[in-house]
Amino acid sequence: MYIIGGTASKNVAEDLSKELDAPLANTISKRFPDDEFYVRILDDISGEHVIIVQTTYPDHNTVELFLIQNAAEEAGAKEISVVIPYFGYARQDTKFQKGEPISAKVLANLISLSADKVITVDPHKEHILDFFSTSAYSCSAVPELAKYLKNKDINMILAPDKGALERAKQASEIIKCDFDYMEKTRIDDSTIEIKPKKLDAKNKNVAIIDDIISTGGTMAKSIQQLKKHGAKNVFVVCTHGLFAGDAIKKLNNAGCDEIISTDTIQSDFSRVKISPCISPFFKK
Ligand code: R5P
Repeated sequence: MYIIGGTASKNVAEDLSKELDAPLANTISKRFPDDEFYVRILDDISGEHVIIVQTTYPDHNTVELFLIQNAAEEAGAKEISVVIPYFGYARQDTKFQKGEPISAKVLANLISLSADKVITVDPHKEHILDFFSTSAYSCSAVPELAKYLKNKDINMILAPDKGALERAKQASEIIKCDFDYMEKTRIDDSTIEIKPKKLDAKNKNVAIIDDIISTGGTMAKSIQQLKKHGAKNVFVVCTHGLFAGDAIKKLNNAGCDEIISTDTIQSDFSRVKISPCISPFFKK
């Protein structure tokens, strides 16, 4: 077995290599002067099971994944598993309006061309797994995130919308605290509304948990509501920290006490490693 890490996910590939006791394949990669990507696998991987690890965000990392998959196939790998720590485009999982693509399906179709198995982490909706024409599975970062929160004296876990309620409930069961949710309405890509709601947050340490933080709008509005209700410390927690634009500033201005994400997309806020959620898929 060999592990190959794409440039977006070297961290996760290295962790998996240690956990699975499988070598990282030696590769060379570069960008041509016109920015096109080049990769070459140096080890002889013919007849081997190869695990390719690459987040498909932003766009150029997706092309990189396709090229590594093809290189592995051309080099005669016996089996190709693709680990996608953060599956970009998963939120466009249907035609919300006439004339739109189903972006998640496009990516899934292309990735399936050279993959025997696909594993991703907390996809926005589980049904995107059906878009792959190869075996596709997901795992949840919630147990690892909850483990991190265990020593933070959390009294309540909050979902910023009903869709994230199951995640909040699962984390609350591990931490052994209360859980609740907020009522969110999305107005457009960067504007949301959180309806004021009675929340028992006075003097409590509250963690708000979501799958993605993108512009930070959802979390910032939720923090403001919690602070209005007298919350003591507010932690924002997510699996995938995209932190687009001035997201971090928004969260800090709203009064956030700590920002926590996994390393599916590496950033200064990657406090939790994702590899322990992925490695069980490959352990015999
Ligand atoms: C949407 O339903 C997702 O679960 C997240 O709540 C959303 O992507 C967060 O986006 P933003 O940080 O831009 O509010």
